[in-house]
Amino acid sequence: MKAIKVERDELLWMEAESPALGVGEVRIRVLASAVNRADLVQRSGGYPPPPGASDILGLECAGEVLEIGEGVGRVQPGDPVCALLAGGGYAEEVVVPAGQVLPIPDGLSAVEAAALPEVFATAFLNLYMEANLTPGEKVLLHAGASGVGTAAIQLCKLTHNDCFVTVGNAGKIDECVRLGAAGGWNRHEGEFKQAVQEWSGGGVDVILDPVGAAYLSDNLLVLNPDGRLVVIGLMGGVETSVNLGLMLVKRLRIVGSTLRARSIPAKALVMDRLRDEVWPHIATGDIRPVIDTVIPIEEADRAHALVAGDQTVGKVVLKVSE
Ligand SMILES: NC(=O)c1ccc[n+]([C@@H]2O[C@H](COP(=O)([O-])OP(=O)(O)OC[C@H]3O[C@@H](n4cnc5c(N)ncnc54)[C@H](OP(=O)(O)O)[C@@H]3O)[C@@H](O)[C@H]2O)c1
Repeated sequence: MKAIKVERDELLWMEAESPALGVGEVRIRVLASAVNRADLVQRSGGYPPPPGASDILGLECAGEVLEIGEGVGRVQPGDPVCALLAGGGYAEEVVVPAGQVLPIPDGLSAVEAAALPEVFATAFLNLYMEANLTPGEKVLLHAGASGVGTAAIQLCKLTHNDCFVTVGNAGKIDECVRLGAAGGWNRHEGEFKQAVQEWSGGGVDVILDPVGAAYLSDNLLVLNPDGRLVVIGLMGGVETSVNLGLMLVKRLRIVGSTLRARSIPAKALVMDRLRDEVWPHIATGDIRPVIDTVIPIEEADRAHALVAGDQTVGKVVLKVSE
């Protein structure tokens, strides 16, 4: 098979060894994969794959089942599927535990389905399983136009949670509002806290934050009593100080969360809930994959540069095969 290999910081589409199929695993012929922010960090050596995972880039894919391992009952060869991966998606074939494989929602192409697994699993896990978001609570989503952000906006709309976004330009605010956000703030126009307080009439109940250190103190300020902050990324740094007084008085919770390093059963739990609670709304068109650009896998370098430029809305999909 062919796969992307990183050589002297270049992404090259070249021959690679097909992965071996194990018990409880599924081999997928990859028709499309997609870029995640984490791929850029892994490429530069900052986010190594968890033990046992492929060292090929790629956290998601869509395609068709080629082969199933012993004990797999939920899919059959020929089924159109998409999957959450710990690695290996930038390739013609990938092997993945069966619990991380879902059917392609009715009516979607493989290119569209490749934009779903990582961002919907991340948004669902952190909003509902980590932050225990309940209907009516208000949400702040940083990087609202990112892949994860555009998935989270649509989930919030579905579960009757008003949400406010921070983004990097006015056009992205409009895109987020079209997807269901109630409003937004351009992060290049100053601190977000006043805009969030004005929009919410006080504060928000849940924050999904991929920025980390740079936003921590203002995140704590805009949280309501009993508020939950889920930190899912560190684009704005790792270390800062915390006002524990504010945390104590408002009974705040800060949760750190990664999806990729979770156990196989923990990932399967998230995927089962996606299949039952989110996939039906994709089939009806109420929720949709948000795709900025589709780029052939051979031009993965260009796809990474596009994502690194911070101008994309939603996903950059890599087309692997027809
Ligand atoms: N913990 C997990 O399990 C998990 C899983 C998936 C993703 N993530 C994290 O979630 C985030 C979004 O991932 P993605 O793949 O959806 O990203 P993406 O589509 O590449 O979007 C990232 C966006 O973040 C904004 N941004 C970049 N640098 C920033 C900074 N220093 N401060 C504030 N905003 C900044 C930019 O948008 P604007 O210019 O519009 O603000 C950029 O377009 C990443 O941090 C990723 O690592 C975490």
